[in-house]
Amino acid sequence: MKVLVTGGAGFIGSAVCRLFVGELGAHVLNVDKLTYAANLASLKAIEAAASYRFQQADIADRAKMGDLMRSFEPDAILHLAAESHVDRSIDGPGEFIKTNIEGTYVLLEAARDYWVSLPAARAERFRFHHVSTDEVFGSLGPSGRFSETSRYEPNSPYAASKAASDHLVRAWHETFGLPTVLTNCSNNYGPFHFPEKLIPLVILKAMHGEAIPVYGKGDNVRDWLYVDDHARALHAVLTRGRPGETYNIGGDGERTNIEIVTGICALLDELLPQSRHRPHADLISFVTDRPGHDKRYAMDAAKVTAELGWQPRETVESGLRKTVEWYLGNRWWWEPIWSQRYRGDRLGVGKSVAAAAG
Ligand SMILES: NC(=O)c1ccc[n+]([C@@H]2O[C@H](COP(=O)([O-])OP(=O)(O)OC[C@H]3O[C@@H](n4cnc5c(N)ncnc54)[C@H](O)[C@@H]3O)[C@@H](O)[C@H]2O)c1
Repeated sequence: MKVLVTGGAGFIGSAVCRLFVGELGAHVLNVDKLTYAANLASLKAIEAAASYRFQQADIADRAKMGDLMRSFEPDAILHLAAESHVDRSIDGPGEFIKTNIEGTYVLLEAARDYWVSLPAARAERFRFHHVSTDEVFGSLGPSGRFSETSRYEPNSPYAASKAASDHLVRAWHETFGLPTVLTNCSNNYGPFHFPEKLIPLVILKAMHGEAIPVYGKGDNVRDWLYVDDHARALHAVLTRGRPGETYNIGGDGERTNIEIVTGICALLDELLPQSRHRPHADLISFVTDRPGHDKRYAMDAAKVTAELGWQPRETVESGLRKTVEWYLGNRWWWEPIWSQRYRGDRLGVGKSVAAAAG
């Protein structure tokens, strides 16, 4: 199977490339613009494989996307490229509109042109798989979970841009018949995660003996999904999902942020017995909340389990342990980022907007 993966140098995309090329025997063309969030080092394990190729390109470049599809002749497009960090969408929403909405539109149009050019049997098997988020559904109260029919109520600029892209994908299926599948997943975590996101940020701050910022009271709930479990779910939906359908993917791992943070601190206490920063939980510092911070997300993944037999292999406890151990053992991956590109600064207080207004 030949799969054109967009955003394959990012966190989830690189896990997908490693799984598809390394274990599942797929041929992958990874198309990525290489924004700040990308890291080709995450693809070291497969970069020399004959069945893997990388191409730096912007998904919003219509001519380039068309050329790549015609020359690679994919059986499927797995679309993960996006601006993905909620806090950055508060500071500067423009890139989110460009890549997540306009970029998805361009990719859909290029895919439609390519798809109509395919012989009937290949056209029928072709899939355009759009990867989206639970954040499009807004925020939950203390009970209930999001299903595939939950109403769209995006609250952040990031969530709104992803919601818009989901609607475009739906329309390209309903109007043009493009064989799409769409997945909405919960918060991913695991190895190779850029340290602006909660879990790697906490691990690195704590290891360095720095204050660990926790937004608000730390009582926001996320449904944590181990990234390799997600990559396997994407493969199941891509190869066996029904065209036009959407599937929710979650890890059955609801935890408050403070539970995650104290869990990481306890793991570091255990794994770094000589550390002078023990107990790491003493580093926790509660900071002003994110504006419009959604209270709770939880996914009902019953459909993907019933139809495709997918279930997560990791619990939050097993996945968190693997993740902390990975960061302790893989300084080569994160040290260049931490020393040169991102040093754990607070994002998402809307400073740039306030400055512009003032
Ligand atoms: N990480 C999560 O918890 C999570 C949860 C739900 C959904 N998602 C979705 O999954 C997808 C992947 O998320 P991630 O966490 O791996 O993101 P990421 O930020 O780690 O990676 C995104 C990748 O897309 C690339 N990219 C950005 N703009 C591009 C453009 N215009 N053209 C080509 N490439 C471009 C970047 O260079 C980067 O490599 C996104 O669509 C995101 O919305 C992520």
